[in-house]
This record gives sequence, C-alpha cells and structure tokens, in this order.
Amino acid sequence: MKLDTTLDRQDVQTAVREVGINPNYWYPLGWAKNLQPGQVMAATVWQQPIAVFRDDTGAVYALEDACPHKGVELHKGEVQGQHLLCPYHGWEFNGDGECVSIPYYPRDRKLPCAQARSFPVREAYDLIWVFPGEAKLAETVPFPEVPEYGDRNWLQVPITGHFGAHFSIANENALDVFHGHLHKNLQGWFDPVLLSLQQNDDSLAADYRVSYKGQMAKFLGLTDSADEVTSRIISVRYEYPHYHSSLEGVSSIHLMRLPVGPTETRSFALFYLKVALPDWFRQLFEKPLVLFVERVLFQRFLNQDIEMMESEQKTYLRDRSRRYVEVNPAIVALQKTILRQYEAYVLSNSVD
Ligand code: FES
Ligand SMILES: [Fe+2]
Repeated sequence: MKLDTTLDRQDVQTAVREVGINPNYWYPLGWAKNLQPGQVMAATVWQQPIAVFRDDTGAVYALEDACPHKGVELHKGEVQGQHLLCPYHGWEFNGDGECVSIPYYPRDRKLPCAQARSFPVREAYDLIWVFPGEAKLAETVPFPEVPEYGDRNWLQVPITGHFGAHFSIANENALDVFHGHLHKNLQGWFDPVLLSLQQNDDSLAADYRVSYKGQMAKFLGLTDSADEVTSRIISVRYEYPHYHSSLEGVSSIHLMRLPVGPTETRSFALFYLKVALPDWFRQLFEKPLVLFVERVLFQRFLNQDIEMMESEQKTYLRDRSRRYVEVNPAIVALQKTILRQYEAYVLSNSVD
C-alpha cells in the first residue's frame, strides 16, 4: 500500500475500507459481568479468535482459540480450577497457554511442549480488554481513559453495538456530526458547524457547534422548555482505536471499538449523563433509568445508524472502485489516522 501522504482523497477513502487494525493497542472483548468464574467465552479481534476464561479465583485469561493438539476451539471446553480443558481429548492449559496435563499420558513421562498463544488481558471500566499485538508492548501503550467512571455525578449507561461494517465506517459514523438529518424524527441535533480540527499521528480532535430543541433537549437538561433552541459545543476525540465525545459537561460517550473482521465491528459504549441524584433515588431508580436511557434514547438512534453503516458497506462491496464525495475534513482526517496506524504496524512488522 502507498503511504497515505501520497494518497489523494479518493484513494484514502477506498484504501481505508480495506485496511486491518494496528494490533498494538488495547481492544475490548466484552462486558466483564458476562464472564463469571468458571466460564469461558469466544471473542474475535480482527480475525483472531480468542478463548477468554475466568478461573475459580476470578482471574481472567485470553488464549488463542485453537488447541495446540489438533486445533479444536478451546472456548468449547470447560474451566476446571485455574485451567481450561480442551473439549476433545481433555488436554489442560494454564492461563499462560501451557499444556499442564494430558489425561491419558504416562505420568512418568515429560509432557510434550504444547502451548496455546496467550494474550495480555485486563479488566477495566466493566470490560475485559485484550492486547492482540506484541505482548511486550502491552504495558507501554496508553490505556484508554474514562475519567467519569465511578464518579457519582455521572449516570453510567452501557450500550452494546454490533455492525455489519468495517470499523472505519463505524468510526466515521460516530465522528460525523453532519447526519442530524437521519435522527430528525428522534429530535436529534441540527445546524452543525465544524469549529476546529486538530490531528496528529494517532488521534484527532474536532469541535462542532450544534443546535438542539424539543423534548429530548429538555430531558437532557439542555433547554428549559421544548420550544427553546440552544447551541452547544460537541468535542469529538478519536484516539486510535477508540472514540470519545462530550457535550459541554452535560453528557459524554466513550465508544470502545472491537474490529472483528473486514465487514464486522462490535462496540462497547459507556454513555454518561450528568445527574445530581440523591442516594435514595439512585438506589431505587438507577436501574430503570439506565434501562430507559439505553432502550428509549440510544437503541433507537443506534438502529438508525446501523442501517446507514450497513447500507454503506453493502454498496462499497458491490463496487470497490466507485468514487465518493466527502466534504467534512474531519472524516478525511479520521481516514488518514486509520491508514497511518495500519501502515505503521505493517512497516514495524516488516522491519523486524
Ligand atoms: S484437540 Fe484439544 S485435546 Fe485434542
Ligand atoms: Fe447517528
């Protein structure tokens, strides 16, 4: 692939739909509460299947989802104590992926060296994260920051998304504030203006001014009445490979992205709404309130977005050479960031 500095806008747009990830970042695999002690689950990071298990002490491990014996998927196995057992012949693996027992192997003989690749794994922000790249870099790469997490002034709403689209399409959708038109029946925003755009190698920052009115604006505390029009600044940050935007201290959303494959992306979002709720109210109503915000506010917006992203992907696949016209410089900057990251990874790998 040509370096992105040599690509014109059209080339960038086409190339970005074909690139893989830079695996030397932390990626979310799923919500931590969905993996209880003794459970194992399957996940995929950019075509790399992973078996994630939680042992009986609560520790989480991530192994390549292929038994070193014959390749059977390890997520089909079971957790026993601190080990994962392959479902086929019962070979037993520890959290480092080392085979520590073969049930039918003579006890007095040394076990053959059989190792499933293991990945650095972490739990943070109610999510399980994996580092699919070079393990020795895991500790040096900055971990995503979520300053609102655990702060009682913010109501936290987790939102899960699954799109049949390349991760570039999903991230462009999030960064693209000019699609209020799509959400107009849900009283989305209108009249956006891009105020500033800054970028460097692995991130970009865009500030937009947008207007709101209607019941939704009132619910979010943006206006006192539904008829009133108010303008606010939305600050959007793409810090490869994840996304964050905030609306002037009123709300904030972190979109943690899991690129699964060339036409599939998962998203684990933490949405925060600034609320001053007394503790007694929180205890009684936090769960239904979170459910309401998730189902009523978010899923309906998200479903509209998913339809657009999947439609975009479908048309792209029908004719990969088709030309498109983009007028938002923030989108072009995002595409270049994604390309740069992939190229940096490919380059660093070819040097090794
Ligand atoms: S394939 Fe896993 S133990 Fe045989
Ligand atoms: Fe949208």
